Amino acid sequence: MSKEDIKKQIRNAFDHRVAVRVYSDQLISKEDMDFILDTAWLSPSSVGLEGWRFIVVDKKHIPELSAAVKDIAWGAQPQLETASHFVLLVAEKNARYDSKSIKDSLVRRGLTEQSDLDSRIALYQAFQTRDMQMVDNPRALWDWTAKQTYIAMGNMMTSAAMIGIDSCPIEGFNHTVLNERLAELGWIDIEKEAVATMIAFGYRLKDPKHPRSRKPREEVVTWLAN
Ligand SMILES: Cc1cc2nc3c(=O)[nH]c(=O)nc-3n(C[C@H](O)[C@H](O)[C@H](O)COP(=O)(O)O)c2cc1C
Repeated sequence: MSKEDIKKQIRNAFDHRVAVRVYSDQLISKEDMDFILDTAWLSPSSVGLEGWRFIVVDKKHIPELSAAVKDIAWGAQPQLETASHFVLLVAEKNARYDSKSIKDSLVRRGLTEQSDLDSRIALYQAFQTRDMQMVDNPRALWDWTAKQTYIAMGNMMTSAAMIGIDSCPIEGFNHTVLNERLAELGWIDIEKEAVATMIAFGYRLKDPKHPRSRKPREEVVTWLAN
């Protein structure tokens, strides 16, 4: 396939993708969900931390999710009723430069010499302390990993759109209560992690009534003049 054909295919997927709230009865195959999840798994993360987990809630388990969170997930009402799958994007808490998960990420990437590990961890200490000013702020540390889950979110929505699967990103819920309830279900370890966002997946029941609205392109894309 030529580059132009690939660009057209990607552009078509972007034109077709909208946030779909109501889905048909058609279920997504496990194979297709695994394809979508691969694009989350393979997403880039800051310092290669991979401070995330993706919990797949299939049609069989959606009633359990719905019973636990429907009253506080105002942004997920029709999706909880009709989606084929939900994916919960879970972000790690307290990923400090001196945590085990930071060290594990370095080892995973091939750093084994203690001196190399020490110098990289010193760099991350400066990054988290001086540059990002998050090191003594649990909320800021969590925000750092949470915002990285949005990269995986975008990749999943795009890969789904490329194979004709619809989705809706969802952050319309009471964060504290949702996480407490999912901890009660045993789905997350609230000491170590929290759900940042969710995505509903399925096949649209019908096309949207309204055309997609966007700001004029020139308002959001700036080329610097020479
Ligand atoms: C981070 C994020 C969170 C969102 N949360 C919700 C939500 O809770 N419920 C919902 O129905 N739509 C949600 N949306 C969908 C947006 O409303 C939608 O993407 C936006 O209006 C643009 O429309 P489009 O996706 O159809 O192009 C969310 C979108 C993003 C990117």
